[in-house]
Amino acid sequence: MCGIVGYLGQKNTKEILLEGLKELEYRGYDSAGIAVLSDGEFSSFKAVGKLVNLEEKTKDFVTDAFAAGIGHTRWATHGKPTELNAHPHVGASSYVVHNGIIENYAPLKKELQNEGVTFLSQTDTEVIVHQFEKNQKKSTNSFEAFKKTISELEGAYAILLVTKSEDDTIFFAKNGSPMLMGINAENEKYFASSDTPLIGQCSDVNYFEDGDYGYVNADEIVIFDKMGNKKEPHFTKLSTNKLSAQKDGYRFFMEKEIYEQSSVISDTLLGRLSEDAVVFDEIDTSLFDSINEIKLCACGTSYHSALCASYMFERHAKIKTSVEVASELRYREPVLTQDTLFVVISQSGETADTLETLKMAKAAGLKTLVICNVDNSSMVRMADASILTRAGVEKGVASTKAFATQVVVFWMLSLYVAKRNNSMQTQEIAEQISLLREIPKSVIVEDSMHERIKRLSKRYLHGHGFFFIGRDLFYPLALEGALKLKEISYLHAEGYPSGEMKHGPIALADPELFTIALLPKHLLYEKSRSNAEELSARDSTICAISPIEFDKADDFIKTKEHGHYMLEFFEMMVVVQLLSLEISIRLGNDVDMPRNLAKSVTVE
Ligand code: F6R
Repeated sequence: MCGIVGYLGQKNTKEILLEGLKELEYRGYDSAGIAVLSDGEFSSFKAVGKLVNLEEKTKDFVTDAFAAGIGHTRWATHGKPTELNAHPHVGASSYVVHNGIIENYAPLKKELQNEGVTFLSQTDTEVIVHQFEKNQKKSTNSFEAFKKTISELEGAYAILLVTKSEDDTIFFAKNGSPMLMGINAENEKYFASSDTPLIGQCSDVNYFEDGDYGYVNADEIVIFDKMGNKKEPHFTKLSTNKLSAQKDGYRFFMEKEIYEQSSVISDTLLGRLSEDAVVFDEIDTSLFDSINEIKLCACGTSYHSALCASYMFERHAKIKTSVEVASELRYREPVLTQDTLFVVISQSGETADTLETLKMAKAAGLKTLVICNVDNSSMVRMADASILTRAGVEKGVASTKAFATQVVVFWMLSLYVAKRNNSMQTQEIAEQISLLREIPKSVIVEDSMHERIKRLSKRYLHGHGFFFIGRDLFYPLALEGALKLKEISYLHAEGYPSGEMKHGPIALADPELFTIALLPKHLLYEKSRSNAEELSARDSTICAISPIEFDKADDFIKTKEHGHYMLEFFEMMVVVQLLSLEISIRLGNDVDMPRNLAKSVTVE
């Protein structure tokens, strides 16, 4: 998803912008660009593809004086990923970068074209710079023109704009897309669409609210809120712990993140378990007062962890639970009742569809909770309460450790609610807590297991599709396994409830249909096994993942003997992640930045 950086100061502007953009690479992008305004002169560079292409283009460009610079990584929404469509977009004497979508760009563009303006790109963003320059002609100063332009835009945006007539100024606006500003003792000003580019550069940051707009120059920081009232920036300290972007010897960030799961799950558990209770200091049990139902809402992998949560909430806490795909909930006019706790789940905390459902739930007067990996993200700031998953920065576009920690948080939360609702005996909760403490061990990647999966992967590079099948909690795990595989291998894969195959999909069974069967020992083993046998009898190629030998399988991945199905769940999660990883590597794909995907989907 698009990323924004901005810099105003004396230092090497080009390097600062490029370094900032590198920190946003993990979000996914297809082109990038920068524009630097110094002493009334603009220099602008754009390149399709990876940032090295932009670095190459700017290698002879030197920035050694006071400058206002803006930069952008683009993930195409309107128009193909071409150099012309890359940001910054140019007018006669201004440049703009933008994240989000300008919904009314078509009528604005038409009007500007009728007035003789020529558009260079197919983007919605380009209208901003031309509309601004149109307003500039009728305004006494550039800020007035900028303010008028913002009032004419509909949709979601984070915008930075620079213009020749005020060459010491960056104009900004934020509505529905994330943006923050950072400062330091050297009187430099930084902008970015997330914290990462600012860590190490700034001491303090101000997170803009929706509707904020204004400008900065060497002497001033001027912010107005959506009502047009001037407001003071609200600075908070920025973490100095810059997470290493290095892969620590792993081939891909995704691989590193799979291996990290044991330690991040330990972090997730840290300080949250006593002998017989789960402790969440960040929430109050009153959050569950008068609550008779939990509604979970998310997208993609986070949706799969929400499905896992629904099994656990009903099983442990005996509370009615429903799960919704955010993009569906938004428009289907759901009945939201006040006795429902609305829970959104998001790694990034910025996913547009999920964020909108959170706004809907708040507007309907529901209590809201977010399970999130990014502190200070839009969702964390908006929800009544939040629980952080503590997975650390996840750079691989295909989510792994974020999913793992989400499921851990949900398992803990189901026990927390169970205790509050007296739906489980103290002894039972204590037993579950002992199991929780065992998860970090269950997800350690053993060399022998990784080697076996590496070897097996060569047999799964073709075929006409994969079915990941499982029952109960292993059904959402099957969905997640299939999503991982399709994301990074580009092979068709589906997750299915094992018992549902005979109601249609089994018609596809033949040797070129690969079935990945999740067969835990401690949860519906016999039933799952006979479903896998049905597929084997129809000659589907079966790869069984189980601690129990399965003679009807073509391939078998033996997992360890665990005392409980939840520990089997976590080990099998690692197995399906590694299988996708190894298949993708063999196919020669970019595991960390798969085609067409973005890390944080901040558009609808
Ligand atoms: C899959 C993946 C996506 C995200 C989805 C929601 O590997 O990462 O499916 O899970 O885009 O993102 P968040 O969790 O940031 O709301």
